[in-house]
Amino acid sequence: MKLNEKLYKKLNEQVKHELESAYIYYSMVSYFSAEGLDGMAQWMTAQAQEEIMHAHKFFNFIHERGVKVELQNLEILKTNWKSPLEAFKDALAHEEFITGKINDLMKLAIEVNDYAAKVLLDWFVAEQVEEEGSVGKVEQMLRRVGDSANGLMMIDRELGKRVFTPPPSEGE
Ligand code: FEO
Repeated sequence: MKLNEKLYKKLNEQVKHELESAYIYYSMVSYFSAEGLDGMAQWMTAQAQEEIMHAHKFFNFIHERGVKVELQNLEILKTNWKSPLEAFKDALAHEEFITGKINDLMKLAIEVNDYAAKVLLDWFVAEQVEEEGSVGKVEQMLRRVGDSANGLMMIDRELGKRVFTPPPSEGE
């Protein structure tokens, strides 16, 4: 089935949004590393790697449908934050923005009766619940500990346990 032109444009744009997510999160990795918060840097590295995997899913889908991805410029980034809490607040706001984009894509896929796109987007709808949930959980923990250096160190140690595991189809 030929990919609808409007849906193609939005899917192509989503490749940019996912790569931009990785770009934003790598900027946060850099900030956390510079602050000596290695656990948070590790957590955010895994988050950025997941975003590359997300971009890859859209990238492959577009190519499998016989059209070419046209990569777009990424936005200029914020490179510094006042605190880890501010960084995670930004990350949460960004995930909410991405959820909005996925929902818009889903609406469009339904509108143009593209069931294959809908299957792809079903995965992303569920993924966004997880994404907002995991980022929101860290944001909440950081709000709770406030300015406590001990609390921050505990969270940092906890977040350092996260590793990115590529899904089988992406890791081959
Ligand atoms: Fe690809 Fe975190 O959404």
